[in-house]
Amino acid sequence: WSRIAVFASGQGSNFAALIAAERVGLLGGGSIELLVSDKPEAPVAQRAEEAGVSTLLLRPKEFASRELYEAEIVAELQRREIGLIVLAGYMRLITPVLLTPYAGRIINIHPSLLPAFAGKDAMGQALDYGVKLTGVTVHFVDGGMDTGPVIAQRSLVVEDNDTATSLAERIHKVEYELYPEVVAALAAERIGLVGRKTIIREK
Ligand code: GAR
Repeated sequence: WSRIAVFASGQGSNFAALIAAERVGLLGGGSIELLVSDKPEAPVAQRAEEAGVSTLLLRPKEFASRELYEAEIVAELQRREIGLIVLAGYMRLITPVLLTPYAGRIINIHPSLLPAFAGKDAMGQALDYGVKLTGVTVHFVDGGMDTGPVIAQRSLVVEDNDTATSLAERIHKVEYELYPEVVAALAAERIGLVGRKTIIREK
């Protein structure tokens, strides 16, 4: 569980928060061994290089199928003995090629209180709907879109004058705290799963 691969497609600010947590000993003994990205030109790839984290940057389009793309990732994960996969803004659905060997070992962070506003642009969906409360969810990944068992959730109030930018800023702050906490608990094997219900043991 302690050897971690982070998967990301974009800015990588959550990746940066996880790296920062590891550096100050707040990742439960977990170590980030690899950054996997499907967007080699994404800022997160640059961040990984600057942080001295190994990268696996592959363009899915250059593979004959999604399965072959993932098979190459799985080979690298196995070579590095990765025990935990942390999706941090990885904007692709995972197929059984990756899910099966890593069942129960893949987590995701999503910027809403699931099951509300799954899928893309969760914050925009929440603003358009007009909810007064939204938040962040960390969950195990299954074959669906943001459907796996919930591990942790934090809520926050949507203010009357919130814009996409102001809401995103507060959501991100919550994410940067919550994700390292959950990753630390997993790396330290303090999270159990019974059916769809997760239980976190205190330190
Ligand atoms: C995060 O807000 C994360 O919750 C969201 O993408 C953002 C990535 O930001 N993920 C999803 O919407 C997954 N459906 P980052 O690249 O700066 O960490």
